[in-house]
This record gives sequence, C-alpha cells and structure tokens, in this order.
Amino acid sequence: MNIDWSKLTFHYTETDYIVRAACKNGVWERPYATRDKMIPIHAAATGLHYGQECFEGLKAFRGVDGKVRIFRMKENAKRMYHSAEGLLMTPVPVELFCEAILLALEKNIDFLPPYGTGATLYFRPLLVATTPDISVGPGKDCEFVVVPTPIGPYFPNGFKGMPAIVNRTIDRAAPQGTGCWKVGGNYAASFRASEAAHAMGYECMFTDAKTHKYIDECTASNFIAIKQRSDLTFEYLTPRSTAILPSITNDSLMTLAREMGMKVTRRHIRVEELADIQEAAACGTACVISPLTKVVDPDKNITYSFGDKPGPVLTKLYHALQDIQYGRTEDKHGWCLVVE
Ligand code: PLP
Ligand code: COI
Repeated sequence: MNIDWSKLTFHYTETDYIVRAACKNGVWERPYATRDKMIPIHAAATGLHYGQECFEGLKAFRGVDGKVRIFRMKENAKRMYHSAEGLLMTPVPVELFCEAILLALEKNIDFLPPYGTGATLYFRPLLVATTPDISVGPGKDCEFVVVPTPIGPYFPNGFKGMPAIVNRTIDRAAPQGTGCWKVGGNYAASFRASEAAHAMGYECMFTDAKTHKYIDECTASNFIAIKQRSDLTFEYLTPRSTAILPSITNDSLMTLAREMGMKVTRRHIRVEELADIQEAAACGTACVISPLTKVVDPDKNITYSFGDKPGPVLTKLYHALQDIQYGRTEDKHGWCLVVE
C-alpha cells in the first residue's frame, strides 16, 4: 500500500473492491464484491435519463484501541430507504445495506487509514434505476453499489474555519421537493451556486427557496449555530426546513449538546439572526464540524463575524463526537458498530 494517509483529501482513491447487488423484478440478489469498478448500465436506463438515483455517505474509523468502528450505519441505511421511496425506487433492505457495507470493509481493510492520520474509510452507497425505458416514469429494476475510498478532510481548512456567503439567487431544493432525500439531482442543482461562491472565495449558504429569508443548509452540509442566552447558558440552533437533509451528524451533535446541558432548538433561522450568534458551522459526515469564520450577506451588505478560530462550544462538541468515533470515550448510545 503506497498511500500517504495524512495527505489524503476528499477525493476518490481507488481500493481493491466495490460491492454490488442488483434488484430485478422487485427481488434483491445477494451482495458480492468485485474488483471491476465499472458497472454496465443500459443507455436507456431511467437512472441516467431522469435522475432516478440516490446515494449515501458513511465512515469507518480505526480507533485508538486498533478496533474498527462504523458510525451509525443503520441510520444511513434507513435514510437511503426513504430516499428510494421518495423516487419510487425499490428500496435496499436495511439488512442488505449493512451486509454490503461490512463486505466492502472486509474486502478493503488495507485501505482503512491508521489511527492518528485524520483520514477515514468512506463508503459511498449508490442506488441507480437500471430499467431501460424512455417513457417518463419510474423504473423498478436497480443496481446497488458500495464504493469505498479512503479520505481526508472535506474542506481544505478542516476544523480551522471558513467563510460563507448567503445565496438567494440559485435554489438548491424546493420546500416540497427532493431536498430531504439524498438524491443526485439536488447536488447537480447546487453546483452553480457553490461554484459562484467558490469563485469569490466563500462556501455557499443556501436560503429557503420560497422566501430566501431563512437559512437552509451550508454547502452540502447542515447548518448549526451556538447562541449564548441571557442566563449565560448556550443554545444549539439548527434550521427546521423540509428542503434539507436530515443529517445524522447533526442528530448526534444535538444529543451531545443536550447532554452538555444546552438547550437544543430546531426552528426557522432568519439570516439576520446571525448577528446574535456566537459560533456557527457546517456539519456532516464528510466535514464532521467545519466552523464558519464569517458569513457575508451580499444583498444587505452585512458581514457576520465569528472569529478566526473555532469557538469553545463547537470545539467541545467536535471533540465529544470524534472521541466516540475513535473509541476514546464510552459510546453510551451504541452509535458505533465495533467490527474488529
Ligand atoms: N446536507 C447535505 C445536503 C448532505 O449531502 C449531507 C451529507 O450527507 C449532510 C447534510 C450531512 O448529513 P450527514 O451528517 O448524515 O452526513
Ligand atoms: C457529508 O457527508 O457531510 C456531505 O456533505 C456529503 C457530500 C460529500 C455529498
């Protein structure tokens, strides 16, 4: 193995095997590992033409004790089930999803980065409709693939902080659309806004597509904020929106925040409320927590600053979550499946 683990970024590095399983006429075949990374797909497949496709993302960590931990795999399986239902695809049974991830791990165990490198083994499960049909409607046959890859930090700055810019001009997902599912079309729809923000040196802060008053998501991640209350306790705030992905990282952080005595509130958050917030971040499997140094609102000509360094509350939450993922502390909630 000739990988410099500490130099990995969030890009694809080929491993030995992918795992595949096909569903034909509503019946799932058993998952199998293959060295061939190409999946043959009919040129008329509904997944290619009409975007009938969804995916997931989860990580395995090499712990401080040398054991392997997969974080909240069943939650990803359940979310993919919902995404598939949303697109009228045949969902991958939760057990099959988990079996495929475990097989992908076993067959690519040499690609699991060592403890202390900051890198992890990321699994990218993909479900794509393969039915050849050009009539506009859902196809029932599909292919499930798990693509593993060792990865480093999602954002080049890692936990150090990044600036974001409010976007009101290009919508990512409609309030009653597909934003709550992890479907490829949402990401394709977000590229123009993200690239425009990048060109100006920022990450993109998406606002709700109906009013553009409220914060939806930050990059391809959930948004979280820490607010100090008048009694000097902290509140963990995160948007309530039908157009955002229910993040498993955010859910975990909410639990940890409650355990730390914080009030946790999920509600509409107006962009102007950033003025009363002390710490803000993007959160997700890929970036864990990525603090925001500032948020620029170009339409109102206002900059909300959160300091160049991650704040104390987000730092505490970040370490609490990573300590569980790397086995440095007790996993009270049973979030990790210990494999080895
Ligand atoms: N929002 C979007 C659009 C995402 O793609 C992701 C990543 O999966 C998240 C939020 C964070 O979700 P999770 O914490 O489950 O990875
Ligand atoms: C995440 O896992 O946090 C993401 O943002 C998903 C993205 C890489 C598609």
